[in-house]
Amino acid sequence: MAAPESSVYERVGGDPVFERIVDLFYARIEADPILRPMFPEDLTEGKRWQFLFLTQFFGGPARYAVKRGHPRLRMRHSPFPIDQQARDHWLSHMLAAIDAAEMEESARNEMRDYFERASTFMINREAEADNLMHYQQGKSSE
Ligand code: HEM
Repeated sequence: MAAPESSVYERVGGDPVFERIVDLFYARIEADPILRPMFPEDLTEGKRWQFLFLTQFFGGPARYAVKRGHPRLRMRHSPFPIDQQARDHWLSHMLAAIDAAEMEESARNEMRDYFERASTFMINREAEADNLMHYQQGKSSE
């Protein structure tokens, strides 16, 4: 049977799976000592944007675009100090969330691929270089 290509959003059955992913993901963010301080006290708004973005990105309705315009994710993340370690924590929480949510394996694989690539793209500072700079500054002021 030649089924038409359908989006991840359709294949997982729409909003409920994404609500679950966002809930699971944010519960882990809340418990993460490295990432929690980057997020605002009240996580409600952020959860909503994340949900609207992800449903849109994976082929659902363009609700994020209507309310927020172009995602410009790298720019929106520039205020947050995202190094390799922060990215790894973020990714591990997102992968755990999609592993725990019920969905077919092909949809999960597409999500994994995207989050692995996109989270790397969000890195905006190099931990080693920063540390080296602090080390050198420390030495020169001795
Ligand atoms: C696959 C990679 C990522 C995606 C798709 C993503 C997606 C998003 C989206 C859609 C928002 C809301 C933007 C808006 O206000 O309209 C957001 C906010 C945010 N993201 Fe990410 N993000 C990613 C990676 C990361 C990483 C690696 C970190 C940190 C380690 C991070 C930290 C944050 C923070 C702190 C906010 C602000 C939350 C708030 O204001 O409540 N993100 N992200």
